[in-house]
Parts: sequence; structure tokens; C-alpha cells
Amino acid sequence: MRLSKRILQRLDANLVCRINEIYHNLENVRYDEQHEDISKFELRFWRDVAQKYSREGKPSIWLDYGAGTGFVSSVVGEHLQEDDLLVCCDVSSEMLKICEAKLRNRSPRCRLSFRKNDSTLIPADNDSVDVISVNSVLHHIFDLRDFAAECERVLKPSGLFIVAHEPNKNTKLAFPGGFVRSLARIVFRPKAILFWVAEQSPLSERLMRWITGKVSDKYRRRNRMLADVARQVRQEHLLDFDIRGTEIQQIVDFHSQYGFDRNELCGHIFRRFEVVEFDTYGHLGFYPESKSAIAVERYLRKRWPDAGKEICFVLRLTKKEITGDAEL
Ligand SMILES: C[S@@+](CC[C@H](N)C(=O)[O-])C[C@H]1O[C@@H](n2cnc3c(N)ncnc32)[C@H](O)[C@@H]1O
Repeated sequence: MRLSKRILQRLDANLVCRINEIYHNLENVRYDEQHEDISKFELRFWRDVAQKYSREGKPSIWLDYGAGTGFVSSVVGEHLQEDDLLVCCDVSSEMLKICEAKLRNRSPRCRLSFRKNDSTLIPADNDSVDVISVNSVLHHIFDLRDFAAECERVLKPSGLFIVAHEPNKNTKLAFPGGFVRSLARIVFRPKAILFWVAEQSPLSERLMRWITGKVSDKYRRRNRMLADVARQVRQEHLLDFDIRGTEIQQIVDFHSQYGFDRNELCGHIFRRFEVVEFDTYGHLGFYPESKSAIAVERYLRKRWPDAGKEICFVLRLTKKEITGDAEL
């Protein structure tokens, strides 16, 4: 279900950012437990890129944008040296607190800095950063053109922009792939059906939230958190009408309802960058644990390499001059 026209008309970069801030400030301590999939899916990717690209510049500045509770920063920190600087920034001060505690506890060799950012402004000087990493953050940012301009501003010439865990727009699989994926979801992840039903209407959402809240502590806490976010949105008069929990979630994950298209993202929005690597993964849409689910995932990925649910890529800033605005 897409966001209603009434909500879409009210949204802008500042509002989406503020709702994200409220949401993540409240989610902070539960984040790692709620999003195990993020670290499982991407651990190997970030280890590889950290090893490969931590030698850029020297001494280098690596900025982890939307660092959250510090998953990517912790991995990257293991590869940086004494004279390097790791900057962790996030719009949520509560997420940053957890990130800082985690990083200080691991005491990496490099220097550390923790900075809260406003909107999509990157807290760094012009031409100062060697690498920007972004894991599971782009889909929260309403205006990606502004963000791309900020990345261009702070990155050194030939600086890198590394992204993972973002929704792919082009996930359609030809027969029998689509059928295999749906079947695998029913067999390996029957709970996913409940979420699908919940999103069909306000009534089914309320019913499903009630049922899942009755049977699962985790979802009861999640429901409560969404209600708290909605309450704060109301108290701050950010919207002049009430919104439901699923609508809060859709605003927070703004681009997840559409997904990203490679050409749109790399060819138009980040158009001053060249593509160094691009891949899709997570063809089942969930992290496969059992041997049979891993086998299905492998089959789908081999047969439809571009149709994974998630995308990851590495771009290099070329600083080439482009005249006029690119059309979308
Ligand atoms: C899904 S979490 C990902 C956290 C971390 N990168 C990870 O992989 O675990 C998204 C993070 O992006 C942050 N965020 C959302 N909108 C942002 C914005 N406009 N600027 C900076 N951070 C933002 C949230 O506060 C949250 O910590």
C-alpha cells in the first residue's frame, strides 16, 4: 500500500528527516535486536570494501553517514590506522550515543569523531573526505539530489561513495522465479504473510497489530514505539491530522515503497560519479538461514543477478563538469 495523497502532499525533506529523527531516537536500544538481518546480510560486503578501500587517501578520512548503532563504523574501524579519522554521523543523537559507546568499547586504532547532522547536511568541510559509507540510509532521505550535492561537496576529487542495503526497484523475476520466491516466503517465512495482510487496509492493520501484539513481545514493543512516534508527531504539530503506525513506517522508509533504479540513481542523481562496482542480492527478501533456503537464494541470484531485493554499489567522484540539470 502506498502513502495516501493527503500525506504525500505534506511531505518535504525537513518533515521526513524530523520523523526519522523521532523514530530512530525511540528505536535506539531496540535497533540491533530488530534489524539482525542488516548485519547478517552485509557483514561480508563491508569487510571486503573496508579492506579494499581503507587505503584511499592517506591519512584518510572515512565518514559513515547514518551510522546508527555503529555496525559499519565498527567494521571499518578495524581497518583504519592511527593517522586515519573515522567520522560517525547521524541525525539521531540517541543512535549516535549507542554508536559511540560501541566504538569506544572496541577501541580501534584510528581517531574517532561523532557528529549529529541536521537534515541532509554532512558535517564536514569541502573536499575533505576520502570515503563516505551509507548502509541502509538512502531510502530514508527524501531529497537525494540535495544529498548527492552534499557528497560532491565534502568528498575529495576521486573520493568514494559506498552504499549497501537499499531497496531495488527492479525485482521482477520471470516464471518460474517469481513463483519460487513466493513459495519460499510461505515455507520459510510464513509471518511475512501477516505483514502483507496488515498493509491492505486500516482495519486489517489494526487487527493484525492486535494479533501480533498478543503473540509476540517484540511486535508489542514495536507497536508501542510506532504509537509513541505518532504521538510526538501530533504534539509537535508536524501534521494536522492523525497518522497510523504503518504510515509512520512508510514515511520513515520513504523510498522503500518505490525502490531505486540503477540508471536513475547512478546515471542521474549521483551523475558526477562513475560506477566502480554494482550488485544486487537478497533475492528472497529475507536472510536465508537453512540449507534449503540458501540453495533457493543461490539459484535465484545466479539466474537473475540484477533482480535481488537489495542493491549495493561503489561510486567514484569524477568531478566532471555537467551543464544543465539532468532529467529524471
Ligand atoms: C536503518 S538505520 C541504519 C544504521 C546503520 N547504517 C546500520 O547499517 O546499521 C538508518 C539510520 O539512518 C539515520 N538517518 C535517517 N535519516 C537521516 C538523515 N537525513 N541524515 C542522517 N542520518 C539519517 C537514522 O537515524 C538511522 O540511524
